[in-house]
Amino acid sequence: MKIQNIMVVGAGQMGSGIAQVHAEAGYHVYLNDIDAARVEKGLAVIRKNLSRQVEKERMTEEQKEAALAHIHLSTELDDAQKVDLVIEAAIENMDTKKEIFAALDRLAPEHAILATNTSSLPITEIAAATNRPEQVIGMHFMNPVPVMKLVEIIRGLATTDEVFENVKNTAEALKKVPVEVNDFPGFVSNRILLPMINEAIYTVYEGVAEPEAIDEVMKLGMNHPMGPLTLADFIGLDTCLYIMETLHEGLGDDKYRPCPLLRKYVKAGWLGKKSGRGFYQYH
Ligand code: CAA
Repeated sequence: MKIQNIMVVGAGQMGSGIAQVHAEAGYHVYLNDIDAARVEKGLAVIRKNLSRQVEKERMTEEQKEAALAHIHLSTELDDAQKVDLVIEAAIENMDTKKEIFAALDRLAPEHAILATNTSSLPITEIAAATNRPEQVIGMHFMNPVPVMKLVEIIRGLATTDEVFENVKNTAEALKKVPVEVNDFPGFVSNRILLPMINEAIYTVYEGVAEPEAIDEVMKLGMNHPMGPLTLADFIGLDTCLYIMETLHEGLGDDKYRPCPLLRKYVKAGWLGKKSGRGFYQYH
């Protein structure tokens, strides 16, 4: 089965990036969210990213317009009827994902693959909400999607080799590098990244150093492109907490206990860059 038409469910930071890279690679993309305002906002981000590429002479104006012409705005999940692959990038909540997958299973053609961009939730459990668990798979893109090369591909318990190969080929067509991992909490990326971020937050909590100093140590000492607290603000502190809770619950070891300071910031509404304040302030 050749994938030509795809649907991205969720037009936020991740969903719009996923839609952009598919449109650039020539796929027809239905960019879906619950209302027109969210979809328009996602499209505006894509338009801005593509214009920057034109300014940097990495893309012509014609190529930009061609990519934009491949994006169809959608506020109805019914559009899943028209696609070969759905990539869900909605909020990280198991009940919401199960509802979306049950609906997609009813709507999408029999041959369609249902993928999720979840950062840590079990693929096998999401797949169990459908009658096609062999066609459900994890396709975990990294933020910012247009820049980051990795796509973590996670098989559920029932995922077939054919579906895996098809999704792997799609990631390669986007000029990304797919890496296969198994279905365990946090997969590989967040199993390793988030405990490091959580430890950086404990380092603030215990008064070892100021956020700026911690980030400087990791940037200059370990050559990380961003310090862990800047990265936490960039990912969103609510998402960081959610992933730590998933690791703690799923792996059952106290080494994954979310730092109380992380909980406090999330309760205060300090969610990082998107809310204007986290470990740093944004204007
Ligand atoms: N969207 C599109 N392009 C972007 C972008 C965005 N949001 N942010 C930056 N870029 C582009 C810039 O345009 C620039 O492009 P050119 O090289 O073509 O000029 C390039 O990225 C580099 O940007 P900058 O020079 O402005 O800044 P930088 O050198 O600091 O790079 C960065 C920015 C690529 C984000 C870099 O800081 C980085 O790699 N940070 C770490 C990112 C990371 O760890 N991501 C994983 C997060 S975890 C995750 O996603 C998984 C999860 O489930 C939580």
